[in-house]
Amino acid sequence: MDRTLALEFVRVTEAAALKSGRLCGRGAKDAADQLAVDGMRQTFDTVPISGTVVIGEGEIDEAPMLYIGERVGAGGEEVDIAVDPIEGTNLIAKGQNGAIAVLAIAPKGGLLHAPDMYMEKLCVGPRAKGVIDLNLSMTENLRRVAAKMERAIDDLTVVMLDRERHQGLMDECRAAGARIRLITDGDVNPAMECGLEGSGIHMVVGTGGAPEGVLAAAALKCTGGDMQARLKPATDEEIRRCHEMGITDLNKVLTIDDLVSGEDVIFSATAITEGNVLSSIKYFPGGARTHSVVMRYQTGTVRFVDTIHRLDKKLSMKVK
Ligand code: FBP
Repeated sequence: MDRTLALEFVRVTEAAALKSGRLCGRGAKDAADQLAVDGMRQTFDTVPISGTVVIGEGEIDEAPMLYIGERVGAGGEEVDIAVDPIEGTNLIAKGQNGAIAVLAIAPKGGLLHAPDMYMEKLCVGPRAKGVIDLNLSMTENLRRVAAKMERAIDDLTVVMLDRERHQGLMDECRAAGARIRLITDGDVNPAMECGLEGSGIHMVVGTGGAPEGVLAAAALKCTGGDMQARLKPATDEEIRRCHEMGITDLNKVLTIDDLVSGEDVIFSATAITEGNVLSSIKYFPGGARTHSVVMRYQTGTVRFVDTIHRLDKKLSMKVK
């Protein structure tokens, strides 16, 4: 993909964040999501691509915009798109840290069309690449990651969603001596962060959304990190969806290259609320400032984009 597209994709996540950020802490997660979708959808149509949404807001009958299969873009290279206009809708509703607007773009066929179901995930940064194994225990994975990173297990920080289903993982991490950071929502942001040197996050583990898993894999692929995953269908319908995707062995471990295949992917995220690496949107009279990150697998460049927007000059960005 043309490298100049990277900045175009930042404009897309910025637009989603700028529109929805106004509703931060207002308890209106659906309204915030709608604003983010509108901002993202409008801006996509200014980008010179011929895109197909493969991970989006839902099936065509559930979502009027950014639905799976929707064509977006002003025309150009054929690409597949994974979007989450707000990753962490509860976070924005409550004004809590960690909400981002996020997307990943790859040449056609480059992103797993992950259905809306749960996925077990194990994510690490580049310094622990090649040692994780979802078929091994958490304790063994901690040992391997610590050894590869040449540090003690108690120098590892592991992030997971604060869910009852993770009690076993928590117990194992605590027994092994690792530090844990429990998050209420939004597991893409820490997965992206664990690929960045100095973020202080070394692993992201546990079960969360499968579409979010593909976005996390895109970020980790760009930074040279690693990820393994396993779909966790909970109903007959979800099992059928797995079979449709050609996954008949439900224990199959998906590698980072199964999640994001091919030699090209671009990942962009803009913070809505405060993050560990990205700063939240700040609004001021007539404008706003956003903080984004954009990465390309081909070169491994990670670029942080700190933007001042003159919203008084951009009618499309006005929120009544
Ligand atoms: P939203 O779709 O409301 O933004 O939630 C996102 C998320 O927190 C993901 O980051 C995570 O993978 C998943 O939901 C966890 O699902 P659950 O809340 O059902 O445990």
